[in-house]
Amino acid sequence: MSEEKKILYSGMQATGSLTLGNYLGALKNWVKMHEEYECFYGVMDLHSLTVRQEPAKFRQNARKLYALYVAAGLDPEVNCVYFQSHVSAHAELAWILDCFTYMGELSRMTQFKDKSQKHADNVNAGLFTYPVLMAADILLYQAHVVPVGVDQKQHLEITRDIAERFNKIYGDVFTVPEPYFGENGAKVMSLADPTKKMSKSDENVNATILLTDDRDTVIRKFKRAVTDSDAEVRFAPEEKPGISNLMEIYGSVTGKSHEEIESEFAGKGYGDFKLAVGEAVADELAPLQERYEKLLADKSYIDDCIRRNDDKARYVSNKTLRKVKKKVGLLEV
Ligand code: TYM
Repeated sequence: MSEEKKILYSGMQATGSLTLGNYLGALKNWVKMHEEYECFYGVMDLHSLTVRQEPAKFRQNARKLYALYVAAGLDPEVNCVYFQSHVSAHAELAWILDCFTYMGELSRMTQFKDKSQKHADNVNAGLFTYPVLMAADILLYQAHVVPVGVDQKQHLEITRDIAERFNKIYGDVFTVPEPYFGENGAKVMSLADPTKKMSKSDENVNATILLTDDRDTVIRKFKRAVTDSDAEVRFAPEEKPGISNLMEIYGSVTGKSHEEIESEFAGKGYGDFKLAVGEAVADELAPLQERYEKLLADKSYIDDCIRRNDDKARYVSNKTLRKVKKKVGLLEV
């Protein structure tokens, strides 16, 4: 690992296809990060087990997520893009950190509260300790920075708390990480209900743009996006959440500021604006989808990248794990 670069860590759950929210809130920002940071990105398949998965489909989805990472521009030759479940240090450190995390702080996690409501028949212990595994992911690599969407803010806070608590007892073992939120798109909202986050688990297909949606579907979903009843393209998240969300998306894809968008659409109706957003998103996704199709056809290339990067991740994470085991007093022979 190069000496001078700081370390960056992030990842996504390996469930289903990715949404435009995952892309604009996280993946799009990751692509250039390697210029400044030594980067590690996991396919977080252990986290996905907190919800019941159909094994064959789950396996396929996990490889597809890897291919999407690469298709979006994450070069596996310069970034360590690997599988969480292939590196046993994650589960080992998570157990140790479980013993340094309090029931009270885990009960306050909003994601736990939301997910236990959604999956009331399966409120398992993994769902409860999910943030501890996430802390282990990040702390194993001594990450300085973690680029995520704002929905992960609370998980980053608990990661910092756990790291600081551990360091206070045992000395400087872990780097305390900082979250990194992109300027635009850190919280992409549902197209059907702009007061809710766009989420891959949404049952309404029109609420969510998938990265694998074709051009016509993307444009159709934007045309149907819920907005208000006046006709002014103006950024006002409280008063006009639907239009403001579309402006965020358009700005994130085209690089235009809110003011530039407002003047571009001054005097035009919502129809023109929605079409422009749909076309801009479809244009952004087209090259990604083309690369994705090619990568899916080349399973051996993907598997080879996974193997090589798993090795690197094992090497780096084991250094931290060994140190932690020694600090807490586990016997080495
Ligand atoms: P996950 O898989 O839910 O989401 C992956 C990333 O996408 C971001 N995101 C969004 N950003 C903007 N708008 C949205 N509507 C939107 N929906 C999702 C998320 O903030 C996230 O950055 N717990 C993590 C996975 C994880 C992880 C980690 C992340 C496990 N270990 C270590 C960072 C570091 C999660 O469930 O992300």
